[in-house]
Amino acid sequence: MKQFKLSPTISIAESCQEFVDNYNVNEKDLLIIGEHTYNDYFKKLNIKAKVIYLRSYGSGEPSDEMVDKMYADVSQMDYNRVIAIGGGSILDVAKLFTLKNISPALDLFERRLPVERNKQLILIPTTCGTGSEVTNISILELKTRHTKFGLAVDDLYADDAVLIPELLQSLPFKFFATSSIDAFVHAIESYLSPKATPFSETFSIKAMEMILTGYKIIAKNGPKARLPYLKDFLAASTFAGIAFGNAGTGAVHAMSYPLGGIYHVPHGESNYAVFTGVFKAYQALKPMGKIEVLNEFLSNMLNCDKDKVYDEIEVLFNHLIPKKALHEYGVKEEELPDFTTSVIEKQQRLMANNYTTLDWEKVYEIYKELY
Ligand SMILES: [Fe+2]
Repeated sequence: MKQFKLSPTISIAESCQEFVDNYNVNEKDLLIIGEHTYNDYFKKLNIKAKVIYLRSYGSGEPSDEMVDKMYADVSQMDYNRVIAIGGGSILDVAKLFTLKNISPALDLFERRLPVERNKQLILIPTTCGTGSEVTNISILELKTRHTKFGLAVDDLYADDAVLIPELLQSLPFKFFATSSIDAFVHAIESYLSPKATPFSETFSIKAMEMILTGYKIIAKNGPKARLPYLKDFLAASTFAGIAFGNAGTGAVHAMSYPLGGIYHVPHGESNYAVFTGVFKAYQALKPMGKIEVLNEFLSNMLNCDKDKVYDEIEVLFNHLIPKKALHEYGVKEEELPDFTTSVIEKQQRLMANNYTTLDWEKVYEIYKELY
């Protein structure tokens, strides 16, 4: 019966000042933000909110340990609204601080703590990839479990997602590249998900179209050519977030998690490392079906034959970041069975969204191919 869920309210503010004025940012707000973003954009606005920098609690991908350390400080504070301004790490962590009790975070993620929301939430992305501002998912690295793991519950939806294109101006090209590739993977995985509906597909297709159009301009004219299109990339990543928030992501995300969790490869880059391998496997295993429609769309966008679309995507994406083999990240061949087992045992939430079934042998084969 259910087709599609739309949440939160989405607003666009032309500047940070416009956001602060319209949302009446005040002393009962908890601002979770990166220090650079705060200094570059918000310090001069003299806002009264309490400010927390995620990086004061650890580096790298956000983990349950970081959340526990933050909770020790934040639980002493009096606030009724969380405003998160940042990339996926900050937004994902901030969502948790709208809940009553989140520590130990491992217990929350393994569902031994009740999920009870008692704060408002505003999410503002500073990258064009995560889509986290419109999803109900928080993803943490669970240190003792050696992988990343998602908590997906409706209590984690923001009340408001605010897009401020000004914030993307200072995003370095590498982060632009990895985050927008992540958005593209959100769009393409959700498109082929068995949970996709005509509603989610519309957002998937539009996001892919906007990202590929922008990439073609960058491939032709260089990294600076992205600057006039940042607003489009920001919208595309939110579209992709709406699509995967409804239809889910699948094996690309699932199989990238051991690479991110153990070798700390940035999320978008680890997705890229496994993306075409997974889609080529889909193509080989189930060439008839929805993937034909997808390949037709991609071949039109890329001006290439339908059976070459995943090779052509690599040619295009390599203008942004080079695709690397798994061994180039330090992965050892003897680890691949453990990677595979971890995906099969711990990532069923995602593997349920695959275009066609990928069992242990097939996942292992894909890893070996990518090694
Ligand atoms: Fe992602």
